[in-house]
Amino acid sequence: MCGIVGYIGEQRASPILLEGLRRLEYRGYDSAGIATLDGNFIIKKGVGRIGKLNDSLKFTDMEGNIGIGHTRWATHGSVTEENSHPHWSCKAEVVLVHNGIVENYTKLREFLISRNHKFSSQTDSEIIAHLLEEAISSHADIKSAILSVVGSLGGSYAFLAMIKEQPDLLIAVRKDAPLVLGIANNSHFVSSDVLSFIDKTNQAIFLDNKEIAFISRNKVQIFDFTGKSIQKKTTTLAWEISDVSKKEYLHFTLKEIHEQPISVRQALAQNEKEVKEIGEILRKTKNVFITGCGTSYHASLLLKYLLAKNLRVRADVFLSSEIDQQKDLIDSDSVVLAVSQSGETADVLNAVAIAKQRGARILSIVNVMGSSLARESYKTLYTHCGPEVGVAATKSFSAQLSVMFLIVVAAAKGSPKDLLALQYHIRDVLATEETVRTISEKYIGANDFYFVGRGDNYPIALEGALKLKELSYVHAEGMAAGELKHGTLALIEQGTPVLLLNPPDETYLPTLNSALELKARGAKIIGISTKRDPCYDDFVPLPAISSTYLFPIVEVVPLQMLAYFTALGRKLDPDYPRNLAKSVTVV
Ligand code: F6R
Repeated sequence: MCGIVGYIGEQRASPILLEGLRRLEYRGYDSAGIATLDGNFIIKKGVGRIGKLNDSLKFTDMEGNIGIGHTRWATHGSVTEENSHPHWSCKAEVVLVHNGIVENYTKLREFLISRNHKFSSQTDSEIIAHLLEEAISSHADIKSAILSVVGSLGGSYAFLAMIKEQPDLLIAVRKDAPLVLGIANNSHFVSSDVLSFIDKTNQAIFLDNKEIAFISRNKVQIFDFTGKSIQKKTTTLAWEISDVSKKEYLHFTLKEIHEQPISVRQALAQNEKEVKEIGEILRKTKNVFITGCGTSYHASLLLKYLLAKNLRVRADVFLSSEIDQQKDLIDSDSVVLAVSQSGETADVLNAVAIAKQRGARILSIVNVMGSSLARESYKTLYTHCGPEVGVAATKSFSAQLSVMFLIVVAAAKGSPKDLLALQYHIRDVLATEETVRTISEKYIGANDFYFVGRGDNYPIALEGALKLKELSYVHAEGMAAGELKHGTLALIEQGTPVLLLNPPDETYLPTLNSALELKARGAKIIGISTKRDPCYDDFVPLPAISSTYLFPIVEVVPLQMLAYFTALGRKLDPDYPRNLAKSVTVV
């Protein structure tokens, strides 16, 4: 979703902002823009991708050592140049970029119209620029002006503002949307994600909710929303996370699929004591809840199964956006384990905030260090899979599952030795790439796809269907194999492709029976298993793994590849699927 960058220092701001925005492209956007201040404001913005916009608008010609930039993912107002950021105030005294939603914007707009403000966009964001201009005219100093603005804004937001009369000041405000400062010599960076400045500095200050930063070339002052000064700790970031290039791959998605042998190994390299502690908490707590969205929800569902089967721990899993239906069950005897790649998904953060209010203890499995979810948690295990740039979650999913397996194995007092072999199993299954590509070509014209699995393989079936939907825009459904006969069989026609997850675990024979039922109704069966059954029309071999409980992590890889190749076959960009954003920061 919307991405924000800011720079103040001794260099020209525009090339730094442009590069920063490029590094935020993964979040998903439809328009972009940059503003610099060089005596007067210069703003360039438009609809489309940053590279194309730069060709026509020449962002890097913009002068000035201070500036802000933005990638917009439309919420209020359609995708137009006027609605893209940065926004001006009427008298061009304030220029601003914003991420989030101003909930009371209609009321604020009416107030500003009554004060003769004229708007040039339909966005809620522009309101903030006008409010700040209005407040500056009626307050003694900038600090009291900004405090009055945040006092009147409802909703969630992060914004950056520049004021014409203050060429050595960037104002950064955070409430329920991420914002982090990069600290370097005589220069400062601000962004929604450390990725946009990690190549320049590894010193970061993470703003917390309801904090305001006044950033000049040589100093940073931070206040809370009451105006109280706050001392913040500077975090040293790991340089490895700066690796956001595609390397030899055509797309980030493909690169990230191929990174899984390494990312799984990294995910498994956890502190043993912390893993055990989390296992113990889950084992001893009366009410265990697991929550997440999308892919992270599928991982959560698998953890529920693992806890039940291996530890006899009962856990409720809920989609974070469904917290209202769960909240009455959550109390001070509860633990809520939240799973999120970004750690910034608004639905997850909202569920966690409600669970906390009700006295629950929050645990989390997160990829992005210093993210809001990690900061809200009592304990976090990081997945350490590096930046995931492709919009579709791939390596973060296998990393989440790896951490989950580690927790369960440790709590069951098993040996994590088998888990260490995962990297080799994934390497083996990646070698089936050409087979998967051929299968994707064979079914390129299919409008519906079904993914079927039992037990631990069911969450993987859901995940396979989600991947295909989001990357190739083909309708897909993940089904528990035993459920087919309760309705979905009616949809099976001559030639309908069904991908069958059939590893040699206790689900093997009943799943094969489901395949026969499907085949009798005309389905084409794509079997994913260690051995080829005659009923499979197509077959992707899985490596032989003696610890069969590991199959879910391995078998998801061909599903990711299938989605990727189907997207390519349909001439779609798998890295940036339409209508989707990587980090969903609105509820
Ligand atoms: C699917 C996908 C999304 C995310 C979901 C949660 O490929 O990427 O469904 O899984 O938006 O995101 P996180 O894990 O960042 O909370």
